[in-house]
Amino acid sequence: MPATTTRAICITAFGGPEAMALVERPLGAPGPGEVLIRHQACGLNYIDVYQRTGLYPLPLPLSLGMEGAGVIEAVGEGVSHLQPGDRAAYASNPPGSYSEARVMPAKCVVKLPDDIDMETGAAMMLKGLTVQYLLKKTLPQAGLQAGDHVLFHAAAGGVGLIACQWARALGLQLIGTAGSDAKCQLALEHGASHAINYRSEDFVARVKEITGGRGVKVVYDSVGADTFVRSLDVLQPFGLAANFGNASGKVPPIDLGMLAAKGSLYVSRPTLFTHIATRESTQAMAEDLFAVVRSGAVKIRIDQRFPLAQAAEAHRALEARATTGCTVLLP
Ligand SMILES: NC(=O)c1ccc[n+]([C@@H]2O[C@H](COP(=O)([O-])OP(=O)(O)OC[C@H]3O[C@@H](n4cnc5c(N)ncnc54)[C@H](OP(=O)(O)O)[C@@H]3O)[C@@H](O)[C@H]2O)c1
Repeated sequence: MPATTTRAICITAFGGPEAMALVERPLGAPGPGEVLIRHQACGLNYIDVYQRTGLYPLPLPLSLGMEGAGVIEAVGEGVSHLQPGDRAAYASNPPGSYSEARVMPAKCVVKLPDDIDMETGAAMMLKGLTVQYLLKKTLPQAGLQAGDHVLFHAAAGGVGLIACQWARALGLQLIGTAGSDAKCQLALEHGASHAINYRSEDFVARVKEITGGRGVKVVYDSVGADTFVRSLDVLQPFGLAANFGNASGKVPPIDLGMLAAKGSLYVSRPTLFTHIATRESTQAMAEDLFAVVRSGAVKIRIDQRFPLAQAAEAHRALEARATTGCTVLLP
């Protein structure tokens, strides 16, 4: 008889990692447009922290987790791209991947190629699809050409190490920042052309030095409060500042006049979920990600593994800047 309950990490109030509890909850059957997936691995992402703390407020009680991989157990009416028994992976709303199994919308779930293992699938979907839309769609007016410099903050993290490798594959010169010399070394080993320890060096001065005073065409900034305004100072005229995260806190409101004064700059605040709003866009982006991973140009580095029940420990490590690359939770 199919299981009717699942263990899942939930919160009933916003707060620190201690707010997270492993609970037993009903599983249910997939309705129209839904699938039931049994996870073999779940991905850890910084957005899980924002949802846990309430920085991105969602209704409570809340099951956490936006990324996972596993086997499809049942499909609801109208789902034709997946069948029971398929290996599958996703990055998706609503949250709930920190669980043994879940029912969820099928439109963001894709088949996982047989030669990509489940942990890799769980680690790479949210982070890899993010790098896909950043490097290929979040671009300055004239696009990016081989040889161009970009600045990518937090380059040794989950998203960061994928970006270093994918940028190299595209011929870009990615200048990465990271919070220690060891992390800088890791970014360099994964394809960054230069790495700056932004805790001990002035990244604005170093970027100017590296680029012969010209600056970069794009800054990809997920650190937020601590870096964003200074990031505007490393851009060429008409350059693009893309703020896609808040690891150090939300970017405070900025004076638009500053964008004129610093050279007709552009600012964007993109999110993956606009890019994967349809099944077609999700599939196309996933195919691009699978291709670059299967070619060997991008390796998904999993540096931390935690049992699902220890998800709070994983959050503590992520917030303490003690992780590198990707982290998975194992149900
Ligand atoms: N908008 C989107 O579509 C989207 C999608 C995916 C991810 N993101 C964002 O991308 C970023 C990276 O995500 P990830 O899951 O791969 O995380 P991660 O990069 O593995 O971890 C976050 C990193 O941010 C850096 N950081 C700088 N200041 C920090 C602070 N005060 N507290 C904690 N960390 C700080 C740390 O690296 P250092 O020690 O090297 O500074 C830390 O390791 C996050 O901000 C996330 O929200 C956005």
